[in-house]
Amino acid sequence: MDMPTPRHPWSSILAASHRARFTVDAVLPEHACFDFGRPLLPESMTGAGAMPGLDAERRLLLGHVRAHGYLAMFGLVEAFILPFVVDHVAGDIGGELGRTQALLGFAAEEAKHIQLFERFSRVFTRDFAVSCAVIGPADAIAEAVLAQPQLAVALLILQIEWMTQQHWVASVRGDERIDPAFSELLRVHWMEEAQHARLDAIVVTELAARSTAAEIDGALDAFAGLIELLDGALRDQVALDLDAFERADARRLSPAERDAFVRTQHASQRRVFLLDGLRHPAFLRTAHELSPRAPGRIAAIADRLH
Ligand SMILES: [Fe+2]
Ligand SMILES: [Fe+2]
Repeated sequence: MDMPTPRHPWSSILAASHRARFTVDAVLPEHACFDFGRPLLPESMTGAGAMPGLDAERRLLLGHVRAHGYLAMFGLVEAFILPFVVDHVAGDIGGELGRTQALLGFAAEEAKHIQLFERFSRVFTRDFAVSCAVIGPADAIAEAVLAQPQLAVALLILQIEWMTQQHWVASVRGDERIDPAFSELLRVHWMEEAQHARLDAIVVTELAARSTAAEIDGALDAFAGLIELLDGALRDQVALDLDAFERADARRLSPAERDAFVRTQHASQRRVFLLDGLRHPAFLRTAHELSPRAPGRIAAIADRLH
């Protein structure tokens, strides 16, 4: 008797990706406005509640500065995710068609995400009271990331996909106070990234299968270095956010307030962009398949940031 052919993950990923599809114009038309009287992100993602001495109005303002940084940070990471995925699909163009199709869809969606975050940034910059600077240039950071072993970069991207899942599921979903456009941004990004997380886990497994134990160890070291690189970039972003917050609030913070700002904001940036991914159970499951040492190594990287 013939056994039923198991459905390959590529076909279910492609089907789910078709269901999740959205356009940038549908999420945020160019003429749309944000409601700056409401939070753009919840305080659990802005760290504004951890900063002592801020009243509700100033916490809202700090949250807006952080929301702008959130858009910029995705612009920055998408700048290395897109070329990485394009390179990976090109490496096996004659292989299984479903695989090529799923990875090409992955790349096209990441290109659209770049446009999506750019659109949100443009609308924010057009209407917000002061200009907010961002770290970069994105190209230079992308070049530094892409110089690392492919397996280390794939792990970093997988960590980012799971972190995005966490932002919608644990923070924004069901929070009626959030500006509806920002809420929709996190929802649609979550939907497409859910498929990317599945694809990226396959990419990590494919790369690991072609690697020796020593190469996997080396990739974990390089991954730790990449987390350190991003952590340094986040620290630099906190200094820029401090400057933007003081200008938006038209008031200089005291030296003690500035110290508290840097301490609480860096802790919040680390949680949102690094720890939410590094501690995600699905990320740790993939890490476990890499080598028995990997979960312990990743836990040590996370503990250093806590
Ligand atoms: Fe994305
Ligand atoms: Fe993605």
